[in-house]
Amino acid sequence: MTYTLTTPLYYVNDRPHLGSTYTTIACDALARYQRLNNGSVVFVTGVDEHGQKIQRTAEQKQISPQEHCDSISSTYRDLWKSWGISDDRFVRTTDPRHLQLVQQFYERVKASGDIVSGRQTGWYCVGCEEYKDDPADAESPTCSIHQKPLEWRDEENLFFRLSRYQAEIEALVAQDDFIAPASRRQEVRNFVAQGLRDFSISRVNVSWGLPVPDHPGHTFYVWFDALLGYLTALLDDGGSTDLDRLDQCGWPASVHVIGKDILRFHAVFWPAMLLSAGLPLPKKVFGHGFLTREGQKMGKSLGNVLDPEILLERCGTDAVRWYLLRDIQFGDDGDFQQQRFIDLVNNDLANTIGNLLNRTSSMARKWFDDAVPSAGAAASPDFPLAQRASQATTTVSDAMETLSFKTASEAILQLAIAANGHLNDTAPWSRMKQPGEEAAVAEDLYAVLEATRLVGLLLAPLLPDLSARILEQLGQPPAGPDWRDRLVWGGLTSGSELPKPSPVMQRLELDEPL
Ligand code: MSP
Repeated sequence: MTYTLTTPLYYVNDRPHLGSTYTTIACDALARYQRLNNGSVVFVTGVDEHGQKIQRTAEQKQISPQEHCDSISSTYRDLWKSWGISDDRFVRTTDPRHLQLVQQFYERVKASGDIVSGRQTGWYCVGCEEYKDDPADAESPTCSIHQKPLEWRDEENLFFRLSRYQAEIEALVAQDDFIAPASRRQEVRNFVAQGLRDFSISRVNVSWGLPVPDHPGHTFYVWFDALLGYLTALLDDGGSTDLDRLDQCGWPASVHVIGKDILRFHAVFWPAMLLSAGLPLPKKVFGHGFLTREGQKMGKSLGNVLDPEILLERCGTDAVRWYLLRDIQFGDDGDFQQQRFIDLVNNDLANTIGNLLNRTSSMARKWFDDAVPSAGAAASPDFPLAQRASQATTTVSDAMETLSFKTASEAILQLAIAANGHLNDTAPWSRMKQPGEEAAVAEDLYAVLEATRLVGLLLAPLLPDLSARILEQLGQPPAGPDWRDRLVWGGLTSGSELPKPSPVMQRLELDEPL
């Protein structure tokens, strides 16, 4: 069974920021885990390039929308590459294949009797590309997310008959496994319970959009077009854009990972569109929380936006990935705090894990001919550290299945803490001086090295680079398709060569704020 996961398709109105990087890093960890565990994965990401927001941005820059989209889209693509994101598909909604697919999908929905003409009036936020219900301040309505004035709209549009799907969507969102985490379910259930209203899927005043086949002057509403980008991505396997091929291409998605801001679109509008087109529904929608910085919303006006490119350049991918995945419960809101970031990276990665490997390997090399010492009693799965390792492996697997990256990271860290504890309790440096203790010291060092090997392997989905460096220091190949088999205690071969140690993780020293 193919495991298909998606990030949102990011708007190209501006360069990528830490928010989109966060979602993409989390998806990358999940994709890597599923690949190591199951094999067949399609990891989709990409960009959403149409709509009024992008049209206006290009106008302001006095360049054509296409030129603007080409430039920002390649920034996204390059950035994901430099972060080591392992996406299988990067979709652009300006790809001509996407137009074919959207028009084909529209014909299906029309044939189901779900397209009607109507008049749309209401307050619109161009930032969200969404009509807002009853703004709190009727005098000068503003978008609570963008803090910008809403715009009044009154136009003839084509509507999708969402209201016809009330019962099906109610039943869908009532299921406990469709929306995750649990804290996000009620909000969607309440929204659906208010009664679903048809929504407009075309625009007459937006030229930067895909043309609606039988309605000159109408372009598709950007969300109708964007959600279909997931399908275009899956069909981009060298074959045609024929929607009937979808089931051989990894559809339905195992999970759409999104921020909480776009939950309604994914958990309500999207399933109804798919039902109308006679296509299977995604299995899960996971809505994660939002990042703030030092307690404040990140925004250009506040001048506190964290540029992912600078972050990567100054801190490296392992440090940032660790902080985001280990410190924030995926699903909850999180706050980026520079001091905490530095402390966690230095304590967890440089000290607890990095120094553990360095000092153990140095001792083993010094006393046991540059090689892994004899395992003796430490070869047994009943050895205390072996049991800790097996608990950590189970916790990591369970946690990764539910996107609980924090729990997974903590379990790995706990294993490294236990290995450090074992070293401190058994004090090989003083026992080595006592006669007749050599075999016992060998056992203890073997156990700690073996625990470190498992720390390295378990880190593979979360911090693939650090994982590979740890394993290399132990004379081991990076994690690969035999990951599960290698997660068994006793994988280090006694007598095998231990390479000369060098620090696997640099300490973070940031003299200036990021
Ligand atoms: N184009 C739509 C999505 C279409 S999906 C078919 C869109 N794009 S977006 O560029 O605005 O990206 C929104 C996503 O970026 C959020 O859902 C979230 O995943 C991520 N984030 C944007 N700002 C964020 C934070 N401050 N914190 C965490 N993630 C945030 O909506």
